[in-house]
Amino acid sequence: MPISIRNGLITIETAGTTYQMKADSLSTLIHTYYGPKIDGADMSPLIVPRDRGFSGNPAEVGMFDKTYSLDTLPLELSSFGDGDYRITGLHAEDAEGARALRFTFKGAKILPGKYSLPGLPAVYADETEAETLEVYMADEAAGIGVTLLYGVLPETDIITRAMIVKNEGKAPVRLLKAASVSLDYVYGDFDLITFHGRHAMERNLTRREVVHGMESVGSVRGMSSHHYNPFAILAEKDTDEMHGRCFGFSFLYSGEFLFETEKDQVDATRVIMGIHPDDFSWELQPGDTFTTPEVMMSMSGEGLGKLSRNFHRAIREHVIRGPWRDRRRPVLINNWEATYFDFDGKKLLEIADTAASCGLDLFVLDDGWFGKRNLDDSSLGDWAPNEEKLGMSLKALGEAIREKGLMFGIWVEPEGLSVNSDLYRQHPDWAVAVPGRNPELSRHQLILDLSRQDVQDHILARLIAIVREGGISYIKWDLNRSISGKYSAHLPKERQGEFSHRYVLGVYRVLEMLLAEFPDLLIEGCCGGGGRFDAGMLYYTPQIWCSDNTDAVNRLSIQYGTSFGYPTSAMGAHVSAVPNHQTGRNTPMKTRAITAMAGTFGYELDITKMSEAELDEIRSEVGLFRELNELIRTGDYYRLSAPKDVCTVWENVSRDGAEALLSGVWHGIEANSPVFYVRPQGLVPDALYEVSSCDADGGRPMYRMSGAALMNGGVACLMPDREYDSFLIRMKRA
Ligand code: GLA
Repeated sequence: MPISIRNGLITIETAGTTYQMKADSLSTLIHTYYGPKIDGADMSPLIVPRDRGFSGNPAEVGMFDKTYSLDTLPLELSSFGDGDYRITGLHAEDAEGARALRFTFKGAKILPGKYSLPGLPAVYADETEAETLEVYMADEAAGIGVTLLYGVLPETDIITRAMIVKNEGKAPVRLLKAASVSLDYVYGDFDLITFHGRHAMERNLTRREVVHGMESVGSVRGMSSHHYNPFAILAEKDTDEMHGRCFGFSFLYSGEFLFETEKDQVDATRVIMGIHPDDFSWELQPGDTFTTPEVMMSMSGEGLGKLSRNFHRAIREHVIRGPWRDRRRPVLINNWEATYFDFDGKKLLEIADTAASCGLDLFVLDDGWFGKRNLDDSSLGDWAPNEEKLGMSLKALGEAIREKGLMFGIWVEPEGLSVNSDLYRQHPDWAVAVPGRNPELSRHQLILDLSRQDVQDHILARLIAIVREGGISYIKWDLNRSISGKYSAHLPKERQGEFSHRYVLGVYRVLEMLLAEFPDLLIEGCCGGGGRFDAGMLYYTPQIWCSDNTDAVNRLSIQYGTSFGYPTSAMGAHVSAVPNHQTGRNTPMKTRAITAMAGTFGYELDITKMSEAELDEIRSEVGLFRELNELIRTGDYYRLSAPKDVCTVWENVSRDGAEALLSGVWHGIEANSPVFYVRPQGLVPDALYEVSSCDADGGRPMYRMSGAALMNGGVACLMPDREYDSFLIRMKRA
């Protein structure tokens, strides 16, 4: 059993890790260990209290012990205002205005299976795969009780954390910060790895030393954001892809977040992750509870590659839900970069026709099919098809597309509200806006107040009607601005601080109800590309459009960064036209295809303008992807080199090691270059593999070698004489 409780010592064990906490003689819950698996020993001797000036002592320790201080102890639940001066996870104000909290341990319980969180995404597993630990804490003076929730998935080395805060007193309490995880490392020199970006250039990796002081990344944009991803890694100094200890934190939440670290006076490091407190407060009347979203943690003693694979597997098998979890995803064609707003029904059907002749599965009609939308300046909110522009009804268009053997998908931006829309004219109070202020516009638009149930119900009804009318199998759910002026006409003054979280809960509710109505519907998340690429969204949308940047070379970095926390099967990736619309770069078709195959794969260009030879190339790419789909979607993923190298190489290996695929793209072409070597991983050492190229030789074997030879000797990659060339090498057990 992964969880054990012995006299206040609580130990969680996964396949490769141990996590431990212990209630001490004052009932403080000390965090004693998180790291590679140990034998169940009580790790509390590692915690050595020392007398430190200006780190005070609780009254109960008596006059003569100056060593016991909440300012230096590693705590399982850190809270603000009563002796812990570090960054803390829980802040609250009582009815008198006091802000002081200190929790003691009250008990713990082990439950079979994995807990779920009402209205929020959460890792799921059946009773044979997971256990739940509930730990009860209380601050009796403040009248606040806390249940710490831990979900343990031993196989994948995943431990989740969330928290339920309850007002157990007689007066109202206002929560000011309620983080999902607070974790202390008593020693260690760490690097912090985070993923920053901007629209069309998401999830670039930054690695820096954790030095004394506080460091944070987060979002107050109403969404997880392009700018900082809610996934971060703490890695011991020398950690690389294959070696070293590292800890990953993935927030199952699509709203505002804060990830913080502090290296303190005694060189201990604390990590906090949760809802961003700047934009948060929550009123708890007596008896009320507040449930935080969940953080999924994992630890690897074998480097960053293993850590990523833990998250990939957990997201693929325990976050992504519904029939699309295990199904081959459709190879799609999207008309956005082919036509932008300039199309009619005839043009769409021509694209669909050619797509069908190339063996694609799904036609996606992007922005511009509704209201009077021919530019990005109107009609969001008016979710009725523009039959004049389409030249037919949505129903007729859907039927015509299905007749060609394609599924029909459609773009929507349910949270968007154009100033120039009938919906805004009818319901100005449905917009997110501060009374008396001119709301900030972005892409000419406002945001619908999805914290309101009436608004949620309206949008849900429109979506249901569209899906029914068009016979829609796929939705691209977009959001195209950051949210400012956060205020809901529906909330009382003292609850305005709840807006941002209620908004996210509203989005989740609409998604959940839409999926309940159409369980087979495939929803692809999107937020101007990857502005809401998080594990919370993946609970509802099995794939997310990775970026509005479709340039194959930029995509290598975007997908590389994304791969640290998220699986290939979640990354929306398309082949687009050259010169690329975002960068003007020319890359060979093959390279664009190989890059898009490291995701869900599809096309986003005007295939009606392509030559027969180019269409044949598409046909063979689609055929190849079908062959490789299972391996890419469900196999283990290894980063063999990085975009900073001359060639980015990644590897997919089937779970049984019987088959592997090396994909590489050259982007640092040089004359008279050295040979570039990479070492494959994850093969069966004593198995014999046939190594073949998918290129010019038509996939014929190049040579045979054992897994051990390949993994230790490596594979030689010869620099081509053409910039941005690429290769696919297959290794199959002979
Ligand atoms: C966003 C999306 C794009 C496209 C446009 C349409 O930017 O990320 O893929 O759908 O909106 O307006």
